[in-house]
Amino acid sequence: MTDHAASASKLEPGVSQLRCIACAAVGESGAKSVRCAQCGDLLEVVFPGWNTSAGMRAGGLDAAALKQLWLQRRTSPNALDESGVWRFREILPALNDWNQVITLREGNTPLYQLPSCGRAAGVERLFAKHQGMNPTGSFKDTGMTAAASFARQGGFRWVACASTGNTSASMAAYAARAGMRSLVLIPQGQITWGKLSQALDYGAVTCQLKTDFDGCMRVLDEVVERMPVYLLNSVNPYRLEGQKTAAVELLERLDWQPPDHIIVPGGNLGNSSAIGKALLEMKELGLIARLPKLSVIQAEGANALVRTMRETGGKKLIPVHAETMATAIKIGSPASWKKAVRVLEATGGTVEQVSEVEIALAKAEIGADGIGCEPASAVTLAGLKKLVQQGFVKKNESVVLILTGNLLKDPDFTLKFHRGDLFAGTEHEEEAAAVLSPRQRAPMVLDASANAVVKVLEYAEQSDPRRPLS
Ligand code: F0G
Repeated sequence: MTDHAASASKLEPGVSQLRCIACAAVGESGAKSVRCAQCGDLLEVVFPGWNTSAGMRAGGLDAAALKQLWLQRRTSPNALDESGVWRFREILPALNDWNQVITLREGNTPLYQLPSCGRAAGVERLFAKHQGMNPTGSFKDTGMTAAASFARQGGFRWVACASTGNTSASMAAYAARAGMRSLVLIPQGQITWGKLSQALDYGAVTCQLKTDFDGCMRVLDEVVERMPVYLLNSVNPYRLEGQKTAAVELLERLDWQPPDHIIVPGGNLGNSSAIGKALLEMKELGLIARLPKLSVIQAEGANALVRTMRETGGKKLIPVHAETMATAIKIGSPASWKKAVRVLEATGGTVEQVSEVEIALAKAEIGADGIGCEPASAVTLAGLKKLVQQGFVKKNESVVLILTGNLLKDPDFTLKFHRGDLFAGTEHEEEAAAVLSPRQRAPMVLDASANAVVKVLEYAEQSDPRRPLS
């Protein structure tokens, strides 16, 4: 049996369709274009086959049977079952041949309690679902296993994406596993070295364009028109299907008792759309009894969704020129904004924006809980603090933050933070010094003597005696 081979080929194909989110035209499965042929808007996967005479069923099973089957698979050595995405394949579009699945055993990410972050935010029950614990270090892997598998099924030799770094790292890895070539367009000088080095290591053809992410997206759209290349950005509806499973896995872990709030960072808005879609589908299938509120947090300098909601009530996108040190979400014209608006409205969630200093502080607080994440993920905690202050999130409500990227994705940010250089020469310098200095732990250069180290230890114990030394 090959690495990705499945012994699950007996499985009934899931009855799914591609449908336009604007005009409801049915799209062609396996087509190269990921947009509606009628009106050009985005497509989504829908499951008319779930609606059976016996009520809502996925893969022919009711909610109780699905829960039991998914749980049983956790002890299976089958590659599909080991994947935290394909374990839930009854609610995913089916491949013609399950042997086409490309999996790096993505998903199965931990849910952590965040006690000191909870105190900082003013909520009693705060958790983090850490999607940065995926194989390439970000949540993108859960979507990429699905989209790359459909790309291979479609016979594409080349896949491509524009990226702020994580999508490209993930796409390059899955393309390599699938024996496909990959083309990456990234904004020159605006993605972290960690992410760039991953794309190179996995063998992608990597182009740094002299523009921003939105400019890369425009160029890529044209390249895809002209060349036989399959687009793996999150406008690809199969990506979002894979990304749905983060929410399913979360609810399974919580014994199907929904938290009151789920908070996600917003960039191109694929992830919030995917998690929201999962929540709505789980409710429809009877897997959960009520919907958590899904809220989206953006950086102040890349706040297209926040402005869209506040200034147009979600009716018309207000693109912005994006500026933020959280490079992963430095996006001015989010492609999936309509899908995100729909899930905000359906779940009763909200939007909020946070400053650069608030992001830096929140990232250090998540680090201090022994978890760590990249700056874009930390907007969730920074945003939560504001939502608590506004009374949108109550002290006794349970909250899950979706952390999207691993701490090691952006070590430069962390080092600059601790050295006190992050805001040097910027308008935030004074504010940052006041707010962040208690959290800064610059590395020290010492003589190679035990005396020198003991002195440091004694000083550290006096200045921060929170925990016993033992
Ligand atoms: N967090 C991280 C770490 C990301 O890499 C991204 C997006 C987001 C949050 C936002 O998610 O776009 O679905 O709203 N990164 C993309 C990329 C754009 O190219 O890696 P979103």
